[in-house]
Amino acid sequence: MRLPRLKRGSSPAPQTQWEWSELARRKQRMSEDFRAGAGSATLVQPIPPAPNHLELSVADWIRHQVESERYWFQKVELFPGYFSPGWDDPAQNKLPYYGLPDDLTGMRVLDIGCAEGFFSFEAERRGAREVIGIDSFSDSVRRFNIAKEARQSNATAFLMNVYDLEPKRLGTFDLVLFYGVFYHLKHPQLALERILSICTGELRFQTHVFEEPAVKDVPSARFYPHGMLSGPQGEHFDPTVFWLFNSACCVGMLDHVGFTDLEIVSSNPHPFVMRARVPEPSPGTPPDQTQSPWC
Ligand SMILES: C[S@@+](CC[C@H](N)C(=O)[O-])C[C@H]1O[C@@H](n2cnc3c(N)ncnc32)[C@H](O)[C@@H]1O
Repeated sequence: MRLPRLKRGSSPAPQTQWEWSELARRKQRMSEDFRAGAGSATLVQPIPPAPNHLELSVADWIRHQVESERYWFQKVELFPGYFSPGWDDPAQNKLPYYGLPDDLTGMRVLDIGCAEGFFSFEAERRGAREVIGIDSFSDSVRRFNIAKEARQSNATAFLMNVYDLEPKRLGTFDLVLFYGVFYHLKHPQLALERILSICTGELRFQTHVFEEPAVKDVPSARFYPHGMLSGPQGEHFDPTVFWLFNSACCVGMLDHVGFTDLEIVSSNPHPFVMRARVPEPSPGTPPDQTQSPWC
């Protein structure tokens, strides 16, 4: 499709058609750059064999695996004093605001978009009886597993898309963490429906929002056809962002699918965090294997 080229006006407001058609070209160039080297690239980064690996200490073996990864998103403590080299530090910039209950004793917890597992491991540390993470990106699951082994964690990550959640696959959960995924979704309302189907207790929901005084109380959405620029000078480009909503819209969407007791935990608006419950809570359970989970 040829995108109409609009003149750059004096006020390049976010999402003018000029901007998104420019982003479409930028995304296209990124894709071409990737494809240029894809013929010799691998999905799974090979870990180079370590000399005398049977003589390495466990700590050195963990360091070797961590350093062999090209990229870490989250900074996670892998053993006392040693952290994965993630550029995001959730202990500082997320955990204090995200409304994670202090005591999760006995709960089944689902961490959607778990990345390298920071919130999964934190839920386990707070007493959850079982923690499951899902992520649709295979790299995330592989790095999660390095962190899991390093921490001797029982949290488990599966490669799964939020749209595929249903009770017969992973069971139901007392607490569902849905942090930092909503804006990546093309079909956000479908995701909320799938989440309601597996949540038998509470949801914690975090996303980025836009707030404009003119539509403050009107549920409103902004679509990003080809990704979003962020940062003070628009220096970051994320081609995987599709929707931003205002807080009234987030409340409306959760209400629409059937969550109740909606409460905004943090509205700063970064981070914007909500708490919600299902109408009739019951204990989370693993999947009932007599109900043919494979069909
Ligand atoms: C911005 S990171 C947030 C990670 C973590 N929840 C946090 O708040 O630090 C988004 C994560 O969600 C995953 N993700 C994106 N779309 C997803 C989907 N449809 N289903 C499951 N995971 C998804 C990405 O692979 C990525 O690991």
